[in-house]
Amino acid sequence: MSLRVEATTLEEVPEGLAAVGVPVRKGAEGPELAPGLPEAVGGVALPGELDRDWCERQGYTARAGQTLVLRPQVGGPELVLVGLGPIEGLGPDRWRRAAAGLVRAAPEGGTAALVLPAAEEVDRASVQAATEGALLAAYRFDPYKSKPKDSALDRLLMVSGPGGPSGALLDEGVERGSTTAGAVVFARDLINRPPSDLTPDELARRVVDHLGSQPGLTVEVWDESRIAEERLGALLSVSKGSTEPPRLVRATYDPPGPSDQPLHHVVLVGKGITFDSGGLSLKTADGMTQMKTDMSGAADVLAVLGALPGLGVRTKVTAIAPVTENMPGGRAMKPGDVLTTRSGATIEVLNTDAEGRLVLADALVLATELEPDAIVDIATLTGAATVALGTGIGALFGSDEGLVERVRAAGERAGEPLWPMPLPEEYADHIDSEVADMKNTGKAGQAGAIAAAMLLSRFTGSVPWAHLDIAGPARSAESSGYVTKGGTGFGVRTLLELVEAYGTT
Ligand code: BES
Ligand code: MN
Ligand code: ZN
Repeated sequence: MSLRVEATTLEEVPEGLAAVGVPVRKGAEGPELAPGLPEAVGGVALPGELDRDWCERQGYTARAGQTLVLRPQVGGPELVLVGLGPIEGLGPDRWRRAAAGLVRAAPEGGTAALVLPAAEEVDRASVQAATEGALLAAYRFDPYKSKPKDSALDRLLMVSGPGGPSGALLDEGVERGSTTAGAVVFARDLINRPPSDLTPDELARRVVDHLGSQPGLTVEVWDESRIAEERLGALLSVSKGSTEPPRLVRATYDPPGPSDQPLHHVVLVGKGITFDSGGLSLKTADGMTQMKTDMSGAADVLAVLGALPGLGVRTKVTAIAPVTENMPGGRAMKPGDVLTTRSGATIEVLNTDAEGRLVLADALVLATELEPDAIVDIATLTGAATVALGTGIGALFGSDEGLVERVRAAGERAGEPLWPMPLPEEYADHIDSEVADMKNTGKAGQAGAIAAAMLLSRFTGSVPWAHLDIAGPARSAESSGYVTKGGTGFGVRTLLELVEAYGTT
């Protein structure tokens, strides 16, 4: 069974809890209980104050997400101190980490409660974030395990004390957090599925199943002949080395109901390489092991669409995902080939492993034709982005300062750090080609993430555009906090924050 999060009043909390999470701040003098906690929850007495010396001896400082388990009674529930970090800068992401810590510290199975402090300390965004943190920490990908492990917890109750946040705020926060976490889980499930089971066609089917029935959403899937008719020459070229036909998935969200002002329109474009072998410029055995995750961008943007009806977002949003394998079959594109994109611009392919920028070029042209207010693409594009920023931070590029700042700020609210990178005009010659309009590689060993972004920028016309290179954070080697091993779904929450904010400004 998987975890459910519910908002509950203090009176409704049942006895027999497996664990109670008690929020603790990092004070000047050491750990201190968050203010306004009730005396007892579900028949379990909460501590009136903390024994700081004891905390210190345990190395417990109440860092965000840090937990310390007390068991006052043999056989009784665990009291889990959940760290929020210092009062300065206390915001949603700290709650996300705290709730994740509780889920990881609590015993398997059963029901736990997270006690919320005084109303001034928690807003709706914090309750939403705590819900997300709990659900994402509990995530497991086990359809291929013959004996799946028990789930972390069955139920987490968000409980507010007498001076705590209102029931309505709790309900809303839990509901919204369950929706956004559901989107991240949908993305993780797609990313983690083995590549031969998640072919381009299967990815498209699963997306149609997931999005097809929701209000305000429409999904279109283009097959190979439609892709050819539409002159998506780059996507077609990348797909040629594979026996699996490519797909292009386009999903649109049109907010239902009347609108007093014209809606903004944002187009999200996601790279969907269901397996990247490198093509004829073959990767090494090691370099290929994680390449089922090369469709993370596509999974992210399509997952975002699925959450928009539930969140009641007031922005028109289109998701475009070019989906294909990159394989070295007998008909594969060859280094030296020149392909023609939908815009008519030509690209010389000098390395078939730089395939992401090719499929995105065609998709970005489709996006500009919709004349939206903004285009944001997201892709596991370059190893160079990981070299620059590691696995915790995404690389952010763009043609429009205002949009780049909006995306950066959305990432900050979502707890998905993004770092702005330059697109210097002086580097334009890095992608000059002898024979075509441009080439798909940069200069060896130099600014690889920039060269890729520079190529993309040539397909965005005059529409404000931002680009997220998530090659690092899209996947994790470990489970920790609300991140789980394998596909992370990094970017889903940022894009949700972004498109939602367009609906309110
Ligand atoms: N999908 C890879 C980028 C990647 C590498 C993502 C490692 C996650 C982990 C992309 O298609 C690729 O192979 N890029 C090449 C480009 C190069 C050939 C110009 C790269 O980064 O090495
Ligand atoms: Mn590649
Ligand atoms: Zn790739």
